Order: sequence, then C-alpha cells, then structure tokens
Amino acid sequence: MSRIRHLISIDDLSKSDIEYLLDRADDFLDVARGKRRLRTLEGKILANLFFEPSTRTRMSFESAMKRLGGEVINLGTLEATSVAKGESLADTLRVVEQYADCIVLRHYREGSARFASQICDVPVINAGDGAGQHPTQTLLDLYTIRKEARLNNLKIALIGDLKYSRTVHSLIKALALFNAEIYLVSPETLRLPEEIMDVDATFVECDLKEAIENADVLYVTRIQRERFPDEEEYRKVAGSYRLTAEMLENSDAIVMHPLPRVDEISYDVDGLKNAVYFRQAFYGVPVRMAILSEVMS
Ligand code: CP
Repeated sequence: MSRIRHLISIDDLSKSDIEYLLDRADDFLDVARGKRRLRTLEGKILANLFFEPSTRTRMSFESAMKRLGGEVINLGTLEATSVAKGESLADTLRVVEQYADCIVLRHYREGSARFASQICDVPVINAGDGAGQHPTQTLLDLYTIRKEARLNNLKIALIGDLKYSRTVHSLIKALALFNAEIYLVSPETLRLPEEIMDVDATFVECDLKEAIENADVLYVTRIQRERFPDEEEYRKVAGSYRLTAEMLENSDAIVMHPLPRVDEISYDVDGLKNAVYFRQAFYGVPVRMAILSEVMS
C-alpha cells in the first residue's frame, strides 16, 4: 500500500489500501486474542489524547499497542491536565509529541485531527472529530462485514442518527468503493446530510421493516445526544426506533452497532446469531494493530 503517515479521514485511503489493512488485521487475529506473542512495537510509545469519552476506541488502541510490545500514555481526565488551566490544543499536541511516537486524538471539534496532523511531526490517528469522521471505526466495521457477511455488492441498512453519527459518515464513503446499496432509516430530523450522499452508491430511503426485509447488514446507531444544539430537539426523537428479537424472527441479516447503545437495540437481540456487535468491538484490536504497525513502521 502507499505509505500512510497520518490517518485522518477514510478518504486518505484507496480501496487497495483498505484491503491491505484488512488483510494485515487477519494476520494479527491470534495476537489480538492473546494466543500468539509479537513484540514488533517494542520501544514505541503511543499517546492517547481523548477530549471526549470513549471505552472501545481508547481501550482497543491500548490493547493493540500493548499486545505488540509497545507502551501507552494517556492524557487522562481533562480536569487533571493543563487543559483545565486553559492550555490550547496546539500547545498540548506540540508537548505530547515530545513524549510519544504516535498520537491518537479524539476531539469534539470537527477538523481537529486534520489540524493536529498539520502541526505534529509524529503520526496522528483520528479517533473521532465531532460529527466529522471516525476512520478507524470504519476500518473495523469493514473488517466485521468482510468476516461476517461480504464486502462487495452489499445491501446495508444504516439505521438511526444519520445526521450526527460520524461512524456513518465515514462508513458511507468506504462502502461506495465496494458497490454497496445503502438503505437509510432515520427520524425525519436526523436524515443523512446531502453532502454525505455525494458518493458513487445507491441510496434508498425506507422504513425499518423494509430495511430488515432487504438488507444483509443492519447497522444501528445511537442518537448522538451530545451533538444536539437543543435538548428539546433531542427529546422529540429519543426512543423513536428500537430493533427487537421479534422483528428479526425471519431475518438472516447481521446486526452491527459501533456501540455504546442506549435503547435502540433491545437486549433480547444479544442472544441471536444475527448479533455481531460485541465481536465487532473485538475486531477493533487486530484492525488497530494493523494501523499502528503501518504508521510506526
Ligand atoms: N465505537 C466507539 O467509538 O466507541 P467509544 O466511544 O466507546 O470509543
């Protein structure tokens, strides 16, 4: 693949780059499971800078780094750092890059990761920038689809908050490379922004029932409460869709979710063969191993 220095947007990768990284992730599966040891990143330090909450992204990067023999330093809670004293993002980045070989950044402001890549000499990986992009989530989503269904000519339903979900925005760009037919299911006020549809894919707006009947993959998202400018607007759509085991009775579609969930997938779905969202969270480890190996090699 072409050498990647930073990973800011899924647009930074060609289709063959993506396929290469997914193949590399396959090589790391046993290491991610702790069945095989590798020390290829020994002596390297990863800095996790999370300005927004995270469980999966932060911990799977940490697990990936440690399973490859590397070390991790964390910014920690913002109150315990000089961010609380008013230090700018630029200064924080310029300092942290003195201590690490790679920075993973999650920030509430769209464009922050691109900005970081322009001022840092060490590689920067975007772990989510506002409602913008979440490219490593997209890679693990693609990996999950390839493992549990198929990547080419896929019929996939994107369900829920299509307006603010950065995982959806990144995923659509990648799916377009694989000739996907994309079903869109959302409350009226959370429809997909027009500019995200400006890709070479087929879009069908429909309801949940039609999506379940047609799609190979049901990709459910949480309503992104924290992105609403007005809490009242959130309350109008809260709880407006929910996937249950009964709805999936005659369906072979796999159910994915970037997690965390609130109430959009009923807990009775967890025991069905359709539910792959916890395996999807695990696949974040081999995929992030492949990314870390690439940017730090
Ligand atoms: N999917 C995802 O980004 O989860 P976290 O917010 O827990 O990292």
